[in-house]
Amino acid sequence: MDLPPGPRAPAIWQTIAWMARPGAFMRGVHARFGDPATIRTYWTEEPMVLFSSPDAVRAVFRLDPAIAPAGQSWEFLRPFAGPHSILLLDGEEHLRERRLMQGPFHGERMRSFAPMVADLARAELATWRGPVMALERMRELTLEIILRVVFGARDEEAARLRRSIEDTLATVRSLPWALAMAVVHKDLGPRSPWGRFRLAVERFDAMLFELLARRRAERGREDDSMLSVLLAQRDEDGKAPSDQQLRDELVALLVGGHDSSAASLAWGFELLARHPAVQARLREGDPAYLDAVAKEVLRIRPALTIAPRLLREPVQIAGRTLPAGVQVAACLWLACRRKDLWPQADRFWPERWLGQDPPPNPLSWIPFGGGVRRCAGAPFAEMEMREVLRVASGLTLRPARPDPERARRSMLVLVPHRGAEVLVESLVG
Ligand code: HEM
Repeated sequence: MDLPPGPRAPAIWQTIAWMARPGAFMRGVHARFGDPATIRTYWTEEPMVLFSSPDAVRAVFRLDPAIAPAGQSWEFLRPFAGPHSILLLDGEEHLRERRLMQGPFHGERMRSFAPMVADLARAELATWRGPVMALERMRELTLEIILRVVFGARDEEAARLRRSIEDTLATVRSLPWALAMAVVHKDLGPRSPWGRFRLAVERFDAMLFELLARRRAERGREDDSMLSVLLAQRDEDGKAPSDQQLRDELVALLVGGHDSSAASLAWGFELLARHPAVQARLREGDPAYLDAVAKEVLRIRPALTIAPRLLREPVQIAGRTLPAGVQVAACLWLACRRKDLWPQADRFWPERWLGQDPPPNPLSWIPFGGGVRRCAGAPFAEMEMREVLRVASGLTLRPARPDPERARRSMLVLVPHRGAEVLVESLVG
């Protein structure tokens, strides 16, 4: 296959670098091989060609899903995501599902979630004193937010769901387990990584189906959760969604929205702790600055690194013909970080969003991906980041250690390798 150049190291080494040192790996590949470059990891069965220049990124986002489906790149999520998942569908089916799922993210309803998110953030951050592992705490907070906002779960119901979700995710979050699952794709019984994962998913599903049965029995007493909106949805033929469909929609919102938001917020704390001037300016309460901080966190530490598509036919991207059977990906991480695309690319500098000059090409700020697969929860994610960072501006944060945290992969997202360890000095105001 005539593919763009890339590392010759065996796939196992590239997989380890991709997971344990993703930032250094992507930067190294780009420095050595330029754009595009081909990597080979166990992440996907096929070689993957990474693109990051704005023209190529636009071309990837515009690929016809019939020729370059995205769903197949997430095939490994099927055991958890389920057969109706928006993450796995393509073409018309995907668009139909997307229209249904975007219902809960519209206008007024979305804005109405902000006070609840701020309340939950205040309750969480009020307990912070001394050393805090922000990643762990943000995982708890963003899960709590999803349980309330998406599932409409409270009290004992929320506690049971929380335990079950944590059980399920614990099996895939640890690096050795994730590596084992990437290398051995088979379920080798209840003690094997995939076997344990399958059992955890079965327990979680049983709980979700019980929740759906309860909600259906309570019709007429709808709350303001996203699940209430999803329960009321009807397709073009006026048909209500099945339990399996609803289950897959809830899991897509959970998979899409939990770890990605937790990782982005954890990076936010890691960065704020190292930038007292940004903390001070954030404390002044200017909404434009708050927005700039959120954007800059998402730029310099994009939680998801790639938006991949699998080629079924040869295509031309940025003047290069690529054969069928390879993955092509917009490399979100490189596009947001390339020195030739961003002035002072490695500097955490929210002010770049406030100047007179427009920020660089919008196709370089792509933490939410793009095209028809652009993050369905982006408005929610941005609102959530703003609310939590606003509350966080009431804390004085310091780094726990002098050297900044590097990135490692945890499931689909990049997280700070020590867990965003910060020191909370005081609560201001
Ligand atoms: C800062 C937090 C987040 C980041 C960085 C992020 C990023 C992304 C990215 C890069 C994609 C894939 C885009 C592509 O393939 O082109 C995606 C898809 C998706 N995200 Fe997010 N996301 C975040 C939060 C959320 C939240 C809070 C939700 C829901 C509550 C959510 C739901 C989804 C869904 C359902 C998809 C699949 C869309 C589709 O296939 O059509 N995300 N997200």
